[in-house]
Amino acid sequence: MENNNLIRFEDIKRIYDVGETQVRALRGITYSIQQGDIVAIMGPSGSGKSTLMNLIGCLDRPTEGKYFLEGEEVSTLDKNRLARIRNKKIGFVFQTFNLLARTTALENTELPLLYSNMPGKKAKALALKSLSLVGLEGRELHKTNQLSGGEQQRVAIARALVNNPSLLLADEPTGNLDTKTGREIMEIFKKLNQEKNITIILVTHDSEVAQISHQRIYLRDGLIEKEERE
Ligand SMILES: Nc1ncnc2c1ncn2[C@@H]1O[C@H](COP(=O)(O)OP(=O)(O)OP(=O)(O)O)[C@@H](O)[C@H]1O
Ligand SMILES: [Mg+2]
Repeated sequence: MENNNLIRFEDIKRIYDVGETQVRALRGITYSIQQGDIVAIMGPSGSGKSTLMNLIGCLDRPTEGKYFLEGEEVSTLDKNRLARIRNKKIGFVFQTFNLLARTTALENTELPLLYSNMPGKKAKALALKSLSLVGLEGRELHKTNQLSGGEQQRVAIARALVNNPSLLLADEPTGNLDTKTGREIMEIFKKLNQEKNITIILVTHDSEVAQISHQRIYLRDGLIEKEERE
């Protein structure tokens, strides 16, 4: 195994048991991702994109196969160990933003730090820095319902970054945004990648969004159908 891989998947399978039947959501994925890459995961509905993202994000474990994250095999770790890895190394952004209602941009962004028992003053300073990174100066005290969709997604990105993760995962981050706002979010991802060398893996149906990626993986029926690398 090359040791500069951030992520290495070896013949990963994920089979869901649903009553008497089994859904073979991933049927054997082998792939590597290096630190600093931007990877787009594409493919039709039901092809396994979110399943793959959940595995990459240590939210779930494969049924078969090996997953190495920074050289450490994580496919066999228990839930507590996975949660610790997640908190330290991975930031998540979702299509529906997942912010707390009636809560300010600043409070939403601080949350992961307060969970890890960081003193309030330090957490606030880091959250403010993270919000400025995504261009939200002046919006820190706005509550979720006082922000536009694009601004809400930027808060979600600020929150994902506040722990200084090496990996940012985004499942259809522009799915609920108009084209122009979606482009602004993509510019933020590009900047984070260039300035902070954050590895970004995103799921998208939109070939324009996929343009910012260095690599594209096309899934079909739980397998990689096609890869493109620049
Ligand atoms: N928790 C689960 N239990 C059982 N089956 C599941 C579960 N999650 C996903 N599946 C099934 O696994 C397959 C892949 O689902 P997945 O959510 O990964 O697709 P997707 O590519 O993200 O699709 P979409 O573009 O619609 O989001 C689908 O057939 C789905 O029904
Ligand atoms: Mg999905």
